[in-house]
Amino acid sequence: MDLDLDVANNVLSGLRPFPVAVTTVDGGFANGLMSLSAGAASIIPEAPRATISLTKYNKTHDMVASSGIFVMHLLTAEEEHLDASLHILRTLGGSSGRDGDKMGTLRTRTGTTGAPVLLDAHSYVEARVCASLDIQESTVFVGDVVAAGTLHGGERLRVGPAWGRLPKEWIEQYETNHVPQLESARSHRFAHTEAG
Ligand SMILES: Cc1cc2nc3c(=O)[nH]c(=O)nc-3n(C[C@H](O)[C@H](O)[C@H](O)COP(=O)(O)O)c2cc1C
Repeated sequence: MDLDLDVANNVLSGLRPFPVAVTTVDGGFANGLMSLSAGAASIIPEAPRATISLTKYNKTHDMVASSGIFVMHLLTAEEEHLDASLHILRTLGGSSGRDGDKMGTLRTRTGTTGAPVLLDAHSYVEARVCASLDIQESTVFVGDVVAAGTLHGGERLRVGPAWGRLPKEWIEQYETNHVPQLESARSHRFAHTEAG
């Protein structure tokens, strides 16, 4: 087989080293998650677009599909704000909004789109969904950027160093939570092939 999965996954994970905090609001409920799939989707500087791939298992997926708005935040690596960055990562990436409010301990303001902007982030763009692509276990959302801001600046937090600063118990909990997410993703992707 020509496909070495370790090489493939290493190439792909190297493309997007920045953990991005995605927030949205739907029906008055604010929520969000961490993502390593966020990117740019336009070559036109006066008409920027952002893209995120959200897994259907996650509540934020259904909320963005319904509300059509999202905010993408980079986190800061600057030492004086590192605790706040890791708090955002742990809060949004460590549990689901299905199990209760995750936004209460985060400092926010309401953005142009109505979605929450995280005040302890490095910088952000707000977007309105203009297209989406169903890829079985996930949806790729593309949004027109309608607002942007720099909140703290400095170096942007990368996932490698961030992971090294997270408590062991949090990582274990994350890995436990990841199991049903992966099972759900596999069943969405391979359901049709298993059926026949
Ligand atoms: C570093 C990191 C990267 C992640 N990347 C993604 C991603 O690209 N897409 C996604 O749907 N979930 C991703 N997740 C998982 C979600 O953040 C996590 O499942 C979250 O608890 C979902 O919350 P929700 O159900 O409230 O939406 C990532 C988590 C972490 C910690």
